[in-house]
Amino acid sequence: MKKKIAFALSLVMLTGLFAGCAPKEPTPTQAANPDPAVSEPAAEVKTYNIGVSIYQFNDNFMTLYRNELESYFKSKETDTVKYNVVTQDGKNDMAEQTNQINNFITQGMDLIICNPVQTSSADTLIDLAVDAGIPMVLINREPLGVDADGNTVDESYPGIVDNAEVCYVGADARQSGTYQGEIVRDLADKGDINGDGKVSYVMIIGDPENPDAQYRTEFSIKALTDAGIEVEELVSNIGNWDTAQGQQIAQNALNQFGDKIDVIFCNNDGMALGAATAIEQAGRKVGEDIYLLGVDALEECQKMVKDGTMTGTVLNDHIGQSHKAVDVGIELLEGKSIENYYWVDYVKVDANYVK
Ligand code: GAL
Repeated sequence: MKKKIAFALSLVMLTGLFAGCAPKEPTPTQAANPDPAVSEPAAEVKTYNIGVSIYQFNDNFMTLYRNELESYFKSKETDTVKYNVVTQDGKNDMAEQTNQINNFITQGMDLIICNPVQTSSADTLIDLAVDAGIPMVLINREPLGVDADGNTVDESYPGIVDNAEVCYVGADARQSGTYQGEIVRDLADKGDINGDGKVSYVMIIGDPENPDAQYRTEFSIKALTDAGIEVEELVSNIGNWDTAQGQQIAQNALNQFGDKIDVIFCNNDGMALGAATAIEQAGRKVGEDIYLLGVDALEECQKMVKDGTMTGTVLNDHIGQSHKAVDVGIELLEGKSIENYYWVDYVKVDANYVK
């Protein structure tokens, strides 16, 4: 009996000894909350990896857009959910962007957000993501479907509508073109500032492959002709959304056509800023002998509209669009079902615009 007690005692002591030696790693929850009665297991942090490919970093509007996209993802983080966003520059090069998407796939990204370099090649990028089982949100450059008559139609691009985890977030560029035209239509002289009975215009185009450029070019003029205004195109040239190119095109047009020009329409504000410089250098004055229109409503252009050095622009809501892209991206990460198309409205910015 004595032996048994002694054996049991030594067992207890040994156990105590081992227990004392065992490494005691306090869990974060225990460290934070020393009362074992209310301690909970440490919360797990889930990090989602998101690959973003922007058609080109060197673009005024898309720079605002991508910065907002990143900071909105940050603002959505919680103690338990983190977003690791990797944003890359497509350098306006389709091969470069395809490489980026392939790398995102190899790296096992949970979500891809893509601003395609070429909308006509969007299917290639979509297929890569779909085959890898990674959800994709396309932004800003809308791939267009074609109907039986060969006309382009939005909201029916097969690569988007055929895939439950692919969507497009953007703005309907027809609306921005219409708004540009309406701003001119609503001027006292309906845009005919030189009074020769017709609106003679210069059109500075963003990029002929891009629906934003196509629709803005078409619908700005349509708003005038729909109002019964006679129009005449003097110059139509491609400025690739770029300020220096916009300036060059406007300068050449002003040299060639001088006072014949009533309006310079630019598919974006970047090019309108260049055209504004050319107008000033030519000794012309916006609102007095020429009109100037852009799209995007960059801060500096909103100021110019206020002080009269620009006739009008159209707010391309990079905040609304980037937030929508993030919100729907998070829904995809959470496995929720989504729509294929999300539209954010443009806003007319003329002299009456109040922020
Ligand atoms: C347009 C924008 C342009 C340019 C372009 C790029 O929506 O107005 O400034 O950023 O997108 O695709």
